[in-house]
Amino acid sequence: MTDNRLVTGQPIDDDLGYEQSLRPRNLDEYVGQPQVVANLRVAIEAARGRGEALDHVLLFGPPGVGKTSLAHVLAAELAVPIKATAGPIIERAGDLAALLTALDHREILFVDEIHRLEAKVEEILYPALEDYSLDLMIGSGPGARSMKVPLKPFTLVAATTRAGLLTAPLRGRFGIVHRLDFYTEEDLQVIVTRSARILEVPIDVEGAREIAQRSRGTPRVANRLLRRVRDFAQVRADGTITLPVARDALALLEVDAHGFDDVDRRLLLTIIDKFGGGPVGVNALAASISEEPDAIEDIYEPYLLQLGFLDRTPRGRVATPRAYEHFGRPSPGAAPPRAQKKLF
Ligand SMILES: Nc1ncnc2c1ncn2[C@@H]1O[C@H](COP(=O)(O)OP(=O)(O)OP(=O)(O)O)[C@@H](O)[C@H]1O
Ligand SMILES: [Mg+2]
Repeated sequence: MTDNRLVTGQPIDDDLGYEQSLRPRNLDEYVGQPQVVANLRVAIEAARGRGEALDHVLLFGPPGVGKTSLAHVLAAELAVPIKATAGPIIERAGDLAALLTALDHREILFVDEIHRLEAKVEEILYPALEDYSLDLMIGSGPGARSMKVPLKPFTLVAATTRAGLLTAPLRGRFGIVHRLDFYTEEDLQVIVTRSARILEVPIDVEGAREIAQRSRGTPRVANRLLRRVRDFAQVRADGTITLPVARDALALLEVDAHGFDDVDRRLLLTIIDKFGGGPVGVNALAASISEEPDAIEDIYEPYLLQLGFLDRTPRGRVATPRAYEHFGRPSPGAAPPRAQKKLF
């Protein structure tokens, strides 16, 4: 699945060079998610006080909302080293066993995309998470025996965009589970302002707010739009990002007031015009707009659901009255004035 939309929450090539420098380095710099941050502060302080490894942590939420950043922040706050890997990279049980035995006391192992671990690899994790040990098979055939190998106490921090795909035994082994949500406009404005300072781009309050509003609740998108608007400000204005500069830049980039781009508009308009507002199954919808059903569920839908433009019903996707209003279409739910009169 290639996804290079300007407003996708997934990383695009252009982000990679910047993510490192724009990442929050500690909990104070980690903007938003107050509930998660408050809970983690307590857990961190308790673990530090006892000199123990932090309980295993599962972070889930849509792409680009700060899961990887938070894993690194945890390591910084605990003052422990961190090793990062990802589900699809760990191909064999032995690879994971090697990673685990190399971990230091209290070290963090960060596993991104944990839902993509092979079943055989996942099984190695169960005893490791439960009592810091590995069950290794020595030899083969009738002489084979299993041996318990102790590990140093460590913390697994796992991230996923698809918590629903985790197996129950894996999920059950995390002591700390947090969902990261889309960010408020205010939080995104703080992030844009901070990133502008790091990138040394002059920006005013309204300029930052405008970018925040169109960032789909996603810090990664906010940082990306900031960089595109910076280019525009430099080439078409005097370098400062003001409200008119941000508006003109975003209009040129075809990112509308809600941060919708062409795919969002096509998706909603297809439901409205082609499927009478829905309900329509995700597969039929995907086929009509030539996208993958997975991409619709993972990337496009979450933000449209959050904004209340789309509903998921047991019979399929439905465009809401807000979506009709956004596109200036009369909502089918609103009865024409005459019909309404007859009711009384
Ligand atoms: N709470 C935050 N405060 C400030 N900046 C943030 C925050 N969360 C994320 N960011 C910014 O957004 C970028 C993307 O965040 P990050 O890579 O942590 O997202 P992610 O949830 O791990 O995404 P993915 O699902 O693609 O792995 C970071 O480089 C950082 O600059
Ligand atoms: Mg990540």
